[in-house]
Amino acid sequence: MSRWAYVNGRFHPHGEAVVHVEDRGYQFADAVYEVWAVINGRLADFDGHMTRLGRSLDELRIEHPMSGASLLNVLRETVRRNRVRFGLCYIQISRGTARRDHPFPDPAVAPSVVITCKSLDRGAMETKAKKGVAVITQPDIRWGRCDIKTVGLLPNILAKQAAKERGAAEAWLVDDMGFVTEGSSTNAWIVDADGNLRTRDTQANILRGITRGNLLAVAKDAGVKVIEKPFTVEDAKQAREAFFTAASAFLTPVVSIDGTRIADGKPGPLTTRLRGLYFERAAELAV
Ligand code: PDD
Repeated sequence: MSRWAYVNGRFHPHGEAVVHVEDRGYQFADAVYEVWAVINGRLADFDGHMTRLGRSLDELRIEHPMSGASLLNVLRETVRRNRVRFGLCYIQISRGTARRDHPFPDPAVAPSVVITCKSLDRGAMETKAKKGVAVITQPDIRWGRCDIKTVGLLPNILAKQAAKERGAAEAWLVDDMGFVTEGSSTNAWIVDADGNLRTRDTQANILRGITRGNLLAVAKDAGVKVIEKPFTVEDAKQAREAFFTAASAFLTPVVSIDGTRIADGKPGPLTTRLRGLYFERAAELAV
């Protein structure tokens, strides 16, 4: 089936979609991105991701290339053309194309916009979630502004590759004090030894996950007590349950950390319950 990509105002066959060699996203990682889950052909929490995208652009002083309404139209058209019912939709916005020089182009140039979509195998994701996944830990070697969703993902990629090479699905990143910051592309959660649902606060150098924010609301509505407080790798190993969240993972149960089994090595009951509730909420919020 043919795939399509949107690049700077036009749809191109996926194999022919290109940006310029002097695009600043390519040369400097001077670009931000955002990811929406697609559920039943609709974009999950369009507004939440759109707001974060606007903030990422503002923090880096990259011009907004189009209005939220126009962007929604283009994203929907990309989903439609690619016939995605369940999957992911990505946007990358760079500062634009200009002769290579570190400072911002002067005069400013138009930002570059790339939008792509891909289908995911929902059945395979469900099977994985029923079994639970392994994570490993890696030192967090990223820059100090992980709240901005930039395409500068090299430390994340190295951590994820290390996980893959050790048969794990994710790497949890650990700061100098021994606390888990977040996953290489997910937020990290545990149900601690006292039964509290726990995830790191967003004052820390982490991405303010949209799934994280929605899950906090879902947990609150379900009467589950949540503490936004950092936890150590040891806390996680002693936890009753563990999981991670992202638009690309929803809520994925973790059953081992660095080879240590969590509780009985099966997805925990609260994790499983919250996964179901979260999915309902995400489908409701999709536009
Ligand atoms: N990653 N932390 C990091 C470092 C991430 O890259 C992501 C998302 C998250 C979860 O954020 P959200 O719930 O808004 O998806 C946390 C996306 C999915 C990616 O890079 O593909």
